[in-house]
Amino acid sequence: MIERYENKQHTIFHGDAISILSNHIASESVDLIFIDPPYNIGKKFGNFHDKWESEEQYINWSYQWLDECIRIVKPNGTIYVMTSTQAMPYFDIYLRKKLTILSRIIWHYDSSGVQATKYFGSMYEPILHCVKDKNNYIFNADDIKVEAKTGAQRKLIDYRKSVPTPYNTEKVPGNAWYFPRVRYRMEEYENHPSQKPESLLERIILASSNEGSLILDPFAGTFTTAAVAKRLGRKSISIEMQEEYLKIGLRRVLELQEYKGEKLSSLQKNHNITNKNGKKIDLDFIQGSIFDANTTA
Ligand SMILES: C[S@@+](CC[C@H](N)C(=O)[O-])C[C@H]1O[C@@H](n2cnc3c(N)ncnc32)[C@H](O)[C@@H]1O
Repeated sequence: MIERYENKQHTIFHGDAISILSNHIASESVDLIFIDPPYNIGKKFGNFHDKWESEEQYINWSYQWLDECIRIVKPNGTIYVMTSTQAMPYFDIYLRKKLTILSRIIWHYDSSGVQATKYFGSMYEPILHCVKDKNNYIFNADDIKVEAKTGAQRKLIDYRKSVPTPYNTEKVPGNAWYFPRVRYRMEEYENHPSQKPESLLERIILASSNEGSLILDPFAGTFTTAAVAKRLGRKSISIEMQEEYLKIGLRRVLELQEYKGEKLSSLQKNHNITNKNGKKIDLDFIQGSIFDANTTA
């Protein structure tokens, strides 16, 4: 069963991504697609268990929604796709035959949770940045510039130039991105095992869309993509299968106050959680541990 909720700028579908992409979204209609699917690493998303019987089954399932997204993105459009470090090589080889992969980005972060002691623990998640037409795509370099330390902090002069010139104080970020993960104490935190930070989506949306552009997220989770799209004056389409996360989107994106008779209120946080011995628990540590299960390779 598919349900649809919308206002003028934002649409939310409740149901299965492949079926909604195939039957409800027109070809070449979307400017930017951000895809953060289940990673096949055994997480619990509501009553959905993120583990396929084999890696092959997970990859074949993924190729179906990847093909749909390629059909849906505009000729000058962009797709960003994430998955686990172990599955990404399959996606990369599949997509490079159909799109141009402009960047292989890593989103890295610090870990305060459980640390691996017998191998090098996973501290990053890979993201492919792909376009349909390598000669025609949106990339708003000026909107995402970051500080260039040599010019901004050390204020060095480049004497190799014919006229000595100060180094630039700003630059387009490279492909290794540091953004802190979403922690319990952060304003944006929602109750979901793999919520992505707004800062990550902000860079992607500013770089690869314009005001008024239409952005699609087929695995919306806590609806980070749509929430940031809304703040930045873009339109959005989101798909989410789990009802408990749908409710986050209805509140966060469409600002609905009620769903099927239930009041939709933002998460009430308890900052004084204790263990069974009465010892206060560090909430950021808990959140870190949840994320540390995110990628295992
Ligand atoms: C990795 S999470 C996305 C997190 C999201 N980017 C965020 O910032 O919160 C993947 C989401 O896909 C949803 N999902 C899993 N299978 C799905 C399907 N077949 N169709 C639609 N959504 C699905 C899960 O319920 C989960 O919320």
